[in-house]
Amino acid sequence: MNIAKRIEISNEMDFSRATLEATKLAGRIGFRRSDQYQISIAVSELVTNMYRYAKGGCIIIRSIERRRKKGIEVIAEDKGPGIEDIEMAMQDGFSTSKSLGLGLPGVKRLMDEFNIKTELGKGTRIVVTKWIRRDV
Ligand SMILES: Nc1ncnc2c1ncn2[C@@H]1O[C@H](COP(=O)(O)OP(=O)(O)OP(=O)(O)O)[C@@H](O)[C@H]1O
Ligand SMILES: [Mg+2]
Repeated sequence: MNIAKRIEISNEMDFSRATLEATKLAGRIGFRRSDQYQISIAVSELVTNMYRYAKGGCIIIRSIERRRKKGIEVIAEDKGPGIEDIEMAMQDGFSTSKSLGLGLPGVKRLMDEFNIKTELGKGTRIVVTKWIRRDV
């Protein structure tokens, strides 16, 4: 069964809702605790960015299946200013807000797949997925 959750992000109270829903859904899909934690950190970074740079947006979290693999997909969508230089934004330490600049590269490391589409003046859409590991 596929489960999906959509969370509008418009104030700081929505942050914890988004991370909580991500952790809950990850648990239902069957992710181990440490992976649930990593997924919730990734969601937290995406939500923080969309709130800080785009003044809000929406997060869609859903269970996915591909070639008998189970996983989670997180879509972060906003209608903000867009990102001028994705390559720069993906580097550790790059920030336009004097922050640490570790958010996006961190999200990429925590998840298995990372896709970003952005258009100046239109917004940003980031899709990330993580798969359940069977090996260890
Ligand atoms: N949703 C977004 N809309 C517009 N610009 C964004 C968005 N997300 C990220 N950016 C741009 O990409 C840069 C890098 O993002 P990243 O999350 O890696 O770092 P940061 O938010 O500046 O710092 P940190 O996440 O470590 O607090 C940001 O400084 C910002 O310019
Ligand atoms: Mg950030």
